[in-house]
Amino acid sequence: MENIYERFEKTGIIPVVVLDDVDDALPLAGALMRGGLPCAEVTFRTDAAEESIRIMASEYPDMLVGAGTVLTPSQAERAINAGAGFIVSPGLNPDVVKYCMARGVPITPGVMTPTEMEMAMGLGLSVLKFFPAEPAGGLAMIKAVAAPYTQLRFMPTGGINAKNVRDYLAYDRIIACGGSWMVKKDLINQGRFAEVERLVAEAAAIVKEIRG
Ligand code: 3PG
Repeated sequence: MENIYERFEKTGIIPVVVLDDVDDALPLAGALMRGGLPCAEVTFRTDAAEESIRIMASEYPDMLVGAGTVLTPSQAERAINAGAGFIVSPGLNPDVVKYCMARGVPITPGVMTPTEMEMAMGLGLSVLKFFPAEPAGGLAMIKAVAAPYTQLRFMPTGGINAKNVRDYLAYDRIIACGGSWMVKKDLINQGRFAEVERLVAEAAAIVKEIRG
């Protein structure tokens, strides 16, 4: 079985999802699978997140289902117990990192500065979310920090879209990009899963084009 990071790399783009309604979990998962990005970071911003993770992980066992916006160890516990295979957070919370590590579940916390990157390395991490990627300097910033921190790989998220994702994916220190552009909340809330699938397929084609 490949580890989660190999699967991040292969998928290339991690869809960041906000689900307001548990009933949208299955049609969304179907659109992601058919579109060619068999992965979802379901954000713990809504009450529907925990149950949506449970449904997606049990109905689509081949899908890489994780939780995002995890801010506390107790949210991490609920997400992992629901079946989340990975945890993502916007910032670096050592309590969340330690909890996930103790449970053996990969955690990718958000960092933006060299100091935060060194703190994350001190906690034993080598794959970090760079957030919010575009406002925080984008690819130029990642390339600048990648020089001293040779052991780090990054998952930039925030402001990435179908236009700028190619440049990120082409840089080998980027394991995958996170983004919501193909799974926009409005599309999900309007039940426009065919359009979601089209945008997912477009994103998957970009990964293939850049990474082969
Ligand atoms: C988020 O937390 O919402 C992610 O960073 C997604 O950012 P995006 O909507 O700019 O892709």
